[in-house]
This record gives sequence, C-alpha cells and structure tokens, in this order.
Amino acid sequence: MGSLVNLKDLSVEEIIEILDIAEEFMAGKRVDLSDKLVANLFFEPSTRTRYSFEAAESRLGCQVLSFAKEASSMLKGESLYDTVMTFSQYVDTIIIRHDQDNFYEDLVGNIPVPIINGGDGCGNHPTQSLLDLLTIRQEFGKFEGLKILIVGDIVHSRVAHTNIEVMRRLGMDVFLSAPPALQENQEEFVDFDEMISEVDIVMLLRVQFERHREKLNISQEEYHKLYGLTVERYEKMQDHAIIMHPAPVNRGLEIDDSLVECEKSRIFKQMKNGMFIRMAVLYRALTRGGLK
Ligand code: CP
Repeated sequence: MGSLVNLKDLSVEEIIEILDIAEEFMAGKRVDLSDKLVANLFFEPSTRTRYSFEAAESRLGCQVLSFAKEASSMLKGESLYDTVMTFSQYVDTIIIRHDQDNFYEDLVGNIPVPIINGGDGCGNHPTQSLLDLLTIRQEFGKFEGLKILIVGDIVHSRVAHTNIEVMRRLGMDVFLSAPPALQENQEEFVDFDEMISEVDIVMLLRVQFERHREKLNISQEEYHKLYGLTVERYEKMQDHAIIMHPAPVNRGLEIDDSLVECEKSRIFKQMKNGMFIRMAVLYRALTRGGLK
C-alpha cells in the first residue's frame, strides 16, 4: 500500500527505484499532489526528519496537518493506535516518529492509509538509510565491495540497525567500532585505528545520552580520543574516502569541530538528500505503491 516502516520489507530493486526517483526530483521532476493531505505525528524531537518531510510535502504540493501530543486527546488517555486510526479518517498518508521500538507493528495492516516510519526508538530509521544510500551512490556509483566503518553508539542507533542490514544486503563490507558499553551482542567489533585507512566511508554516530540507562563509563574527552574522528585519524583516511554522520552532531565528541564541514565531509549533503528521498517515499505512498 506504500507504507515504509522497515527497509527489510523492500527488495533491492524497490530500494534502487526509490533512489532513482529521488534523483529525478533532485533533477527537477515536478508532480502535483495538491489533492493529497499528509499528517506528521512526531512524538520525539526532530529537526532533519520532521522538517525535510515538511519541505518534501510542500515541494510535492501536498497539504499538511501537523500534530502536537500535548494539544491532543492523547492527554486524555487515547492510545497511539486510536490516534493514528483517527488521523487516517482525514489524511492520505501518516508519518510517525516514536520512542518505542516497532511502534508500527499493530498499525500496518489495520490502518487504512500508508504509514511511514520517521524513526522508532532504537529500532529502525528507513528514510535515513535511504538518504545515506543515495549519498554513497552519488559518491561511488555503486554499493558492491565498498567498505564502511560505522563508529559510536551502535546499540542505541536505529540508523546503524537499518544500515547494517541493508548495506550488507547491497554487498557492502560493514565494520563496526564502539566502546564495549555501546556494542551490540551479536556483532563483531574492530579497532577504529586499524580500520580507518582501509575503508571508503567513515560513518560516525551520535552518542545518544538520552537513551543511556547508565552513565557512560568513560569521560567525553576519553570518548573523543578513543572513538572520535580526530584530525590525526582524519589524516589516515584514504584520499577518496568520505565522512558521514546522520546528525545532530555532538561537535568535539564524535567528530572534531573542524572536520564537520571539511572536504571529505558529506554531512550536510546527507541532509539535502534527505528532502529528495522523502519526496520519493511520499510519492510512492501517495500513489499507492506505484512509482511511475
Ligand atoms: N538524523 C535525524 O534523524 O535527525 P533528526 O532527529 O533531527 O530528525
């Protein structure tokens, strides 16, 4: 029906088709979806996902309903399911960000309009991964055989969870580095300094302090020294290698402040690509799965 809650639900061909449509929007493709109404239900703070969806909706000509939990009947105890079902009576597609992993499980299949996952807890962030893939394809023209090192708060990162699965499916070699407290049990971890000169992409992750149940057992200075992209590490990167980060960035923690906008950084390009990816995902949803 055009829902997008987890990239595992899409084939490689469907993923590539979304990237292609995003490129068409970037090249000036115009559509008129002024008869469509979209609702943005954000239960967690967001700058990039929320406002790039709003920009995408505007550029597609859609009408938009925004939502504030504190002004809704959720304060009278209404459930997420009943809130979303209510919105589905008014709009054509619903975008949801929520702090609960897999919040969408009882929505998809019951809610009669497409649901787009704008990030679920520590679970998945499918549109972020699509914009990451678009950025990588623009840079290298392929996925097969590329080496990426993802560094940081892996266990709490919905971006990492989605990227690890989809990037391996696309034939990329995915390496992970993290402090022991932020590692995922079932994965192998590598030494940042040993891998940095081997990879095509270094992706830093935000340290998600708000999700930590226990205080991190290393100081912010130690974290930056051991797991941050410092100028010394930057100098070991291959000439063609690039830096990515889903943002928001803790400048001086995951990455040295001076490197956020350096020549190898694609961090702000990722953000721009996000708007075109979200146009493609909305277009898919609003034309009921038919991208043509
Ligand atoms: N990358 C990302 O999802 O950023 P926001 O939390 O600002 O949406």
